[in-house]
Amino acid sequence: MTETLAYSPEVKRATDAIFARVRHVIPEIEWPVHAPYIAQINALKAERNAVILAHNYQTPEIFHGVADYTGDSLGLAQEAKATDADVIVLCGVHFMAETAKILNFDKTVLIPDLRAGCSLASSITGADVRMLKARYPGVPVVTYVNTTADVKAESDVCCTSGNAVKIVESLGTDRVIFLPDEYLGRYVAQNTDVEIILWTGSCEVHERFTGEELRQYRKQAPGVQIIAHPECPPDVLAEADYVGSTSGMIDYVDRKRPARVVMVTECSMSDNVAVEFPDVDFIKPCNLCPHMKRITLPKILHSLQTLEYEVTLDADLAQRALGAVQRMLDASQLKAA
Ligand code: 13P
Ligand code: SF4
Repeated sequence: MTETLAYSPEVKRATDAIFARVRHVIPEIEWPVHAPYIAQINALKAERNAVILAHNYQTPEIFHGVADYTGDSLGLAQEAKATDADVIVLCGVHFMAETAKILNFDKTVLIPDLRAGCSLASSITGADVRMLKARYPGVPVVTYVNTTADVKAESDVCCTSGNAVKIVESLGTDRVIFLPDEYLGRYVAQNTDVEIILWTGSCEVHERFTGEELRQYRKQAPGVQIIAHPECPPDVLAEADYVGSTSGMIDYVDRKRPARVVMVTECSMSDNVAVEFPDVDFIKPCNLCPHMKRITLPKILHSLQTLEYEVTLDADLAQRALGAVQRMLDASQLKAA
């Protein structure tokens, strides 16, 4: 791992403008720790012709300090497809880096910590999907992107939380198998006539929210807007004013500019969004994703210095997984090439 770096006058100059933006979510006393990494990462990124793609759940110093592109899973996949960079550093979890590799097989895709997993991705294997296909012959398999390449390779089409209903309906069938998030599957079932066959995976972060907790927020802060991610349990979604992907939630705040809002999702997102909307009061229920939090500035710098850790996939498996990811991008009418 890299040595501790100094907060020199040059570093201060190079990072002052970034600090001015984030000062109300990052305490001043912490900035001398982050700033030297931010300055080095941004310099090395240019040298390597690298791009940093960061998920909306990354911490503010990553999200606002070094990311070239930030977004939800769909946005990161699209950006990974569009980039001209030679190296992609994916600041998010492993399935996101794998998706970037599937879409860019010839590029170097790095993740700063290989252990950044996801409870949804680890809830199902390719063998499980083969078992389901044998049990429901001819029923198409729609797979949330929060899965391994192995699972995608067995699937007909992928979806994200931003396009799940649209993708399910694009198949034109009466029934689909929907993997692996049970709650997202239930949410889709409520919003379509297509019959949904569910798997029982769940997000360890979103499943902890309760409807009762949200009713308490309404009591304590009358008029508060509650916006939730569809990985939350049904009683939570029933209390929400809006349900959508992480980028959908950000768009909602942008369009509605509520005086007060609760973002029922991973904790860092409220801080990241609060930087853009200083007039909105964010109530922050703080459920952290331990996998997302494995990515740190020192690990990103290490990644750029050493080109570790490279995400690799078997070519044949990547090709089969690409079919499902590309069908999603096509069905979303979000140009992939
Ligand atoms: P989004 O695609 O909505 O960003 O969701 C990804 C995720 O992991 C949510 O927990
Ligand atoms: Fe996976 Fe949940 Fe973390 Fe998202 S928040 S990466 S779904 S464990």
